[in-house]
Amino acid sequence: MTLPQRVKLVEVGPRDGLQNEKRMVPTAVKIELIERLADAGLSVIEATSFVSPQWVPQMADNAEVLRTLLASPRRRPEVSYPVLTPNLRGFDAAVEAGAEEVAIFAAASETFSQKNLNCSIAESLKRFAAVADAASALEIRLRGYVSCVVACPYEGAVDPEKTAWVAQRLFAMGCHEISLGDTIGAGTPASIRRMIEACGAVVPIDRLAGHYHDTYGMAIANIYASLELGMTVFDSSVAGLGGCPYAVGASGNVASEDVLYLLQGLGIDCGVEMEKLLAASQFISSYLGREPASKVARALLARRSAG
Ligand code: HMG
Ligand code: MG
Repeated sequence: MTLPQRVKLVEVGPRDGLQNEKRMVPTAVKIELIERLADAGLSVIEATSFVSPQWVPQMADNAEVLRTLLASPRRRPEVSYPVLTPNLRGFDAAVEAGAEEVAIFAAASETFSQKNLNCSIAESLKRFAAVADAASALEIRLRGYVSCVVACPYEGAVDPEKTAWVAQRLFAMGCHEISLGDTIGAGTPASIRRMIEACGAVVPIDRLAGHYHDTYGMAIANIYASLELGMTVFDSSVAGLGGCPYAVGASGNVASEDVLYLLQGLGIDCGVEMEKLLAASQFISSYLGREPASKVARALLARRSAG
């Protein structure tokens, strides 16, 4: 089995992670976190989301976050800052703030679609098609997410064919990459493999990304299984921050530090420096007043403090 030699990490902590924090995180802290992540070598950092502030108050400073990052003297030209846009209203606001890449987010489960977007899957795809057309007209890159790719917090197991159908629809709309979200982290290498095989039959594997939450501690095993199938893009969250506000009990994405440690151990390059990533992890963890959820971060920091 040959594993890929290079992998792209998409850092989603500032969005997927922080969206779930009850206490408002100041805009300046978000900016500092994102700039530290860019300094660590992450080249794609999901910065915020242009969703309703009534639904996700933590992301209400979306325009200020994006504008500040794009105008920052620390900005690195190779780093992109995609943002979530659930509808045209969000898309227009994102473009106004300077967005160069946006992401639309559908689900493979009807109930989750209702809870997360307040509409059916079919209705969400209609709204996303409008966003996709607007993005294409402005040459803005478009990423697509599918949530609940193997399991839904309300409906239980999800048929891989249903996930593949939604992934295919997003791909046909012009998404350059489809991120497959195990929203509640319930997948195992067996269910993740079945799901990727179904999606890989309708979308090229190099256009698929793994977005695995680590609720059951399976995310690293699921990434390994995905690498074996030739997947080369993974979403991760610094310090393992996060969860989804509409998936009660779901914990954060797989920690970026844990993924980096896995990749380094396998000799797979992703362009990220552990020391700088750890510094970013410590920065946000100390702001939030808790230990990073990342086992790798905890182990490396404990070893360091033991001298
Ligand atoms: P709705 O209430 O059905 O929308 O929400 P509406 O069109 O009826 O509008 C209601 C109000 O929201 C109106 O304001 C609109 O103007 C406003 P009012 O007139 O009452 O003052 N509104 C907006 N405001 C700002 N930005 C917008 C926007 N749209 C409408 N874009 C809506 C529908 C989609 C907006 C809402 O359901 C929503 O914001 N949902 C987003 C939920 C969310 O952010 N979830 C977390 C991200 S997804 C995730 O975490 C999963 C992922 O990580 C993958 C995985 O792990 O599976 C990606
Ligand atoms: Mg997520």
